[in-house]
Amino acid sequence: MKRLFGLFVLFLAMGFVPAVADAAAGHGGTKAVKAGILLVAFGTSEESAQVSFDHIETKVRQAYPDIEVRWAYTSHIIRRKLAGQGKQLDSPEIALAKMADEGFTHVVVQSLHTIAGAEYHDLRRVADSFALMGGFERIAVGDPMMTTQEDMKRTVEAMLAVLPGERKKDEAVVFMGHGTHHPANAFYAALNFQVQRRDPHLFIGTVEGYPELDTIIALLQENSIKKVYLMPLMSVAGDHAKNDMAGDEADSWKSVLTAEGFEVVPILKGTAEFDEFVAIWVDHIGDSLSGFR
Ligand code: CO
Repeated sequence: MKRLFGLFVLFLAMGFVPAVADAAAGHGGTKAVKAGILLVAFGTSEESAQVSFDHIETKVRQAYPDIEVRWAYTSHIIRRKLAGQGKQLDSPEIALAKMADEGFTHVVVQSLHTIAGAEYHDLRRVADSFALMGGFERIAVGDPMMTTQEDMKRTVEAMLAVLPGERKKDEAVVFMGHGTHHPANAFYAALNFQVQRRDPHLFIGTVEGYPELDTIIALLQENSIKKVYLMPLMSVAGDHAKNDMAGDEADSWKSVLTAEGFEVVPILKGTAEFDEFVAIWVDHIGDSLSGFR
């Protein structure tokens, strides 16, 4: 079947889909290779954050024009909220069950997470279960944005590429990562180290992990920073970016930093709004597809 998938890709390039003999199907039947990409995100109910997901989908469709693209959200709360607004989003389990039922043979489940934390590992378990059940010929889970050292390098380059144009070198840009209790939280401090080798006034903090805002404030003071740009290091500029980062409440990063005497400029753009970050996820899909050959 591996070789058949290679053939399938070749045939797609030539513009037609072959029906191939499927040994597993028995009864002498034929089964066409049917490939799919399932994009999986935590989800968002913020209308304005949808631009991030639309951008990812556009880029994925451009890169793999002959492969069907579907979505699943891992957050039950967000799916329920959206259902209340008449928008039906599936969980990864339901989305994969539908794809198996519809005869997909090769599926790449692409994690749109930033790090391989708890949600990513949950997703791996779901995909592994479908592999065990024999739901597909092949199923693979694509890595989140920051997985390998090569990904870290690309993430650093992406950060450098999206800095606010008007920012001066003695001004800081603080990126807000999500952060987690999961051991993968260490990626944020690792990224902080690596990005500062290129630009010492870039910092990475997190809402729910380490480095915390207090640590960032100490670093900003040590560097005699006066002006700070805030940007999310999350795929969408959703609830955390709008409220925890840029909100008017006293405990938002904008408010706390302003109270500490910094001039603060929040920028509400998720990483998935920029081609540089999206390219990392898109290439991870390609890695999985090549693994099928
Ligand atoms: Co959160």
